[in-house]
Amino acid sequence: MVTAVSDFDRDVTEFRFVEKLGYVENKVPLVASSKRTMSERPKAYLTQKIPVDGTGLTQLQAVCDVNMYDEVEGGQISVSRERLLKDVVGANALILPYPVKVDAELLDAAGSQLKVIATVSVGLDHIDLKECARRRIPVGYTPDVLTDAVAEGTIGLTLATARRHKEGVQAVSGGSWGSTWDSCLYLCGQELRGATVGIVGLGRIGLGVARRLRAFSIGRLMYCGRSPKDYAGEVEAEYVSFDQLLENSDFVIACCSVNPSNHNLFDAAAFKKMKKSAILINTSRGILVDQDALYDALSSGEILRAGLDVTSPEPFPPDHRLLTLPNCLVLPHLGSASMRARHAMVDLAVRNTLAGLRGEPLETPVPI
Ligand code: DGY
Repeated sequence: MVTAVSDFDRDVTEFRFVEKLGYVENKVPLVASSKRTMSERPKAYLTQKIPVDGTGLTQLQAVCDVNMYDEVEGGQISVSRERLLKDVVGANALILPYPVKVDAELLDAAGSQLKVIATVSVGLDHIDLKECARRRIPVGYTPDVLTDAVAEGTIGLTLATARRHKEGVQAVSGGSWGSTWDSCLYLCGQELRGATVGIVGLGRIGLGVARRLRAFSIGRLMYCGRSPKDYAGEVEAEYVSFDQLLENSDFVIACCSVNPSNHNLFDAAAFKKMKKSAILINTSRGILVDQDALYDALSSGEILRAGLDVTSPEPFPPDHRLLTLPNCLVLPHLGSASMRARHAMVDLAVRNTLAGLRGEPLETPVPI
């Protein structure tokens, strides 16, 4: 836990902290950086507040001048594009979460001294990687450290959607509970037990979901994706086509990464292929789902329910018609939102940043 210290004490305290964490082994030139004047230190710009009780900020402040946009408390998207284009000028390092867009305009605004970009996410669809590669700016991301959190969150959303928690919460807060608790089928939902579950994308997160699903005694597990995975046997998952998965699954869980070829993968035609009793869960990206087609499918009974952790756009407009449907549960992109995962993501992003500033290989570089 970082305790409040005066500006004067801060460097010393932070260096002790850093040493305790073994940062010296990472070859950060601690002494040299402490002797540098502030203006010689590299400049890191963060588009969002990062936790002060973690280690990342401390490590960063030990070697960089840190400019952290922190005007909005707890906001997921804290800096406007206009403000970002101004704030980023002269930065040597840029740390940002999804979905802050990195493109040629932002890179131009930052300037040619920009040495590294670290996204606090495993998803990369907000970054123009080709443009970064063209400018030889390494990009770091945060795989693995969030896998368990997202897999747990996916299971949570699946259960909440299947067991109609949105309607339950509304019944309690809206006062309809007392009047409707007169049938033994009141707000009954579906069980995972015995169900056929189809996972779209058996990558790190898909596998994490599959492992957890086994504890629920599901009947059959299938998956689709670009190619069969040699580790699928561990979770007894069967490789099938997307259509086979849609036609057979009681639960369709989207965990894949997005690319231009799978935008609107879940369109009207896909919903028609699904069982009328099917439940769709999306913890990948909103652009996988044609939201108008989903509205039609949910309201006409083409499919039973949907649980979305991700939408397009984010934040989702509060007056969006999907939110009016009792059978559509929408969360504000909470997949990786556990304290442990978010601290680990920030710490990894900081390590990537510091490596980039030293001109060394990043710990988790985006394969470009
Ligand atoms: C990611 O890491 O890509 C998540 O979706 C953002 O939390």
